[in-house]
Amino acid sequence: MNLVDAIYHRRAIRNYLETPVEDEKIRFVIAAAIQAPTAMNRQPWSFVVVTDRAALASFGDRARAHMLATLTESSLLGDYRQMLSSPSYRVFYNAPALILICATAPDAMAKQDCCLAAQNLMLAAHGIGLGTCWIGLAQSWLQRPEGKDALKIPADHVAVAPLLIGYPATAYAAPPRHPPHITWIEG
Ligand SMILES: Cc1cc2nc3c(=O)[nH]c(=O)nc-3n(C[C@H](O)[C@H](O)[C@H](O)COP(=O)(O)O)c2cc1C
Repeated sequence: MNLVDAIYHRRAIRNYLETPVEDEKIRFVIAAAIQAPTAMNRQPWSFVVVTDRAALASFGDRARAHMLATLTESSLLGDYRQMLSSPSYRVFYNAPALILICATAPDAMAKQDCCLAAQNLMLAAHGIGLGTCWIGLAQSWLQRPEGKDALKIPADHVAVAPLLIGYPATAYAAPPRHPPHITWIEG
């Protein structure tokens, strides 16, 4: 797939086929993730792969309960209370797998490196017919001791990018982009 096509046609996928993702495809997208540039070439990342669907569903329920218990109306996510309260809402959309990218250091650059790895992973997945969705709603629970314990995340690692991965069951249209604000300093 042409790189620009991949950039334009990748979508956040929220409906997945039951089909499991092959282990070699999981390894393929992680291999693509680690091609991302990193500050000082530290490569400060680790990966957790969850393919146990029952465990993933349970982690999603726990993440949702944590969000509902900690959301405040004034928080950035306050508007999501109603959605999260719906009994049918699944934080992980019944996806067959999750790949969590963690930073192995707490500084901002390590987290930025993990975000670049995440975009590589999502584009590589799209290139081989897989869909992905970054689930920010799970992040705060994953960073809690309970979340770290459940996903075997070392205490000193930071959960940065929880990425669902699976075969898309629905094709999505691109949400329109706002025109970019560009300041152009010409010589
Ligand atoms: C940091 C981050 C957090 C996100 N969290 C969620 C989430 O919790 N649940 C969800 O359904 N989508 C989530 N998304 C996906 C965005 O909603 C999606 O990327 C955006 O609507 C644009 O759509 P597109 O990816 O198809 O272009 C997240 C994306 C990013 C980058």
